[in-house]
Amino acid sequence: MMTTVNGTPAKSAGHDLFEPQQATVVKREPLVPNLQLLTVHAPAVAAKIQPGQFVIVRADEHGERIPLTVADWDREAGLVSCVFMQVGTSTYKLGKLKPGQVLPTFVGPLGRALEIEQWGTVLCAGGCYGIGSIYPVARALKEKGNRVISFIEGRSKFLLYWLDRLTAVSDEVLIATRDGSLGEKEGYPNRVERMLAAGEQVDRVIALGCTFMMYQMSETTRPFEVKTIVSLNPIMIDGTGMCGACRVAVGGKTRFACVDGPDFDAHEVDWELLLARRKAYLGPETESAEK
Ligand code: FES
Repeated sequence: MMTTVNGTPAKSAGHDLFEPQQATVVKREPLVPNLQLLTVHAPAVAAKIQPGQFVIVRADEHGERIPLTVADWDREAGLVSCVFMQVGTSTYKLGKLKPGQVLPTFVGPLGRALEIEQWGTVLCAGGCYGIGSIYPVARALKEKGNRVISFIEGRSKFLLYWLDRLTAVSDEVLIATRDGSLGEKEGYPNRVERMLAAGEQVDRVIALGCTFMMYQMSETTRPFEVKTIVSLNPIMIDGTGMCGACRVAVGGKTRFACVDGPDFDAHEVDWELLLARRKAYLGPETESAEK
């Protein structure tokens, strides 16, 4: 059956959702300083999105394409929500969007859905925008019958959000703040290492956040051989495996995060290469935002 997205014809199956779709902003609001929540009416995406998948968004006709992991959705209402951090010109443009504005591009669902099975106890670690992205993952794991431990970290209490949502889908919520304003001061690597060293049962770890945070989780769980999945966030352009911008090395092979991922086994990722490639764009991004 032919469907339409805001009047744009969309094919019924397969790669139809890779075609650019317009979508209307329903809400855009700051969650904490520098992190915003964007909720968009995009029924075709909302109908199919799964935990771990992402969308590519452009704020205006001249904007670059930004990949955003989806943080929540409402299939009935046709709504999709993403949490994003304002780091460069394009994300600042996203941060100025107003309800009713039509986005020239809102493409998805992209990437592979995260594997969700009943593994036992799963630790879901989220930092920064990853706190939002880990929420649908924790929810899906809980629905599958897992014992879910959510672990969120920030510099201070005022940088954490969605504690209520995470609490509703978790058996336990661990909180760490570097200034000790909420939860414990001990953050991801030390606390997880302590848990594993004490023999606490953790069957799988899923980490979402900045590259360095995911790298730290990977190195923490590696000696304990606990399967750890990370959602990689390299630079992306087309999001469909055509441009090669998102290439990463996993298990000694070149993989494209947009179509082969974004979720990979953390212990097989070439972190040195990934961290170096991310760093290469930091200067131009900051310069562009300042201009
Ligand atoms: Fe172009 Fe992945 S973003 S190949």
